[in-house]
Amino acid sequence: MKISKLLLGLAACALSLGAVADQSIVIKFSHVVAVDTPKHKAAEFFARKAAELTQGRVKVEVYPNSQLYKDKEELEALQLGAVQMLAPSLAKFGPLGVKDFEVFDLPYIFDGYDSLRKVTLGPIGRKLLGKLEPKGIRGLAYWDNGFKSFSANTPIRTPADLKGKKMRIQSSKVLDEEMRALGALPQVMAFGEVYQALQTGVVDGTENPISNLYTQKMHEVQKHLSLTGHGYLGYAVIVNKKFWDGLPSDIRRQLEDAMEQATRYANQIASVENDQALEAVKKSGRTQVYVPTQEERAAFRKALLPVHQKMESRIGKELIQSIYKETGFAANF
Ligand code: LMR
Repeated sequence: MKISKLLLGLAACALSLGAVADQSIVIKFSHVVAVDTPKHKAAEFFARKAAELTQGRVKVEVYPNSQLYKDKEELEALQLGAVQMLAPSLAKFGPLGVKDFEVFDLPYIFDGYDSLRKVTLGPIGRKLLGKLEPKGIRGLAYWDNGFKSFSANTPIRTPADLKGKKMRIQSSKVLDEEMRALGALPQVMAFGEVYQALQTGVVDGTENPISNLYTQKMHEVQKHLSLTGHGYLGYAVIVNKKFWDGLPSDIRRQLEDAMEQATRYANQIASVENDQALEAVKKSGRTQVYVPTQEERAAFRKALLPVHQKMESRIGKELIQSIYKETGFAANF
């Protein structure tokens, strides 16, 4: 009797263990951009790798285009555990109380992907991700989009051309200051609302890497695009910390591996995707693409560099200086 009870118990235990092993873990990955973007492609790549490496035990569901949540809502949803993974732009962590990431928004702080990598792949990048922990968020990686250009319905050749223009920005005080330095009127707005705001004239213009401009069809409602490359836009891939820490350790390791591969992929395709988007915008004939002359570039630089010093009190002089040191930025003055 005793033995049969024990056997029964063992059988039940084996059954439930089997059920746990078979049960797939779902990761909802929400984002705000279109499917034909570097971010979405990298998210899908991660989903495939996660399924492969965990042998189907993890299912990553990717929800693009603000389908589930807009900018601010998605961060709240992550903290509440309604979604498990996001990749918000580094310009969107201020409202969460983590202002440090706005250092990435400083105009011209990176002169290309190489100097950026020195920060994102090094101790500064790691330390910044660590600042998310008290918010219940674990930062896993940095993914690129690219360098931003200004767009509007009138030509943009010099800083004076943006004077008085209502310009949509992401929720970053550095970007607010950037627009003010140009005499423009910054307006914070969720990404999913930008196309309509441009179309109806609620704002006159915006800034974004060209892959975002093109895949949101902003080029259809903006007559001019100026290839200023004045600032960087990239992402932090983040997860709900409680969810992540609660995963079986073998699964977590496999997902870390999948994320490492997805990050390499993301950072390989981003600049190519932006080049292709630029070609597509040119081909569309809807927007005039302008390449500023060297003098015009210098004028933008001169107008925008004071933003660095102005923002020291918000971001911290030490952090800004540590990035200069890492990238050799001071040599560019
Ligand atoms: C924006 O709001 O302009 C971007 O952050 C969108 C994105 O995620 O690339």
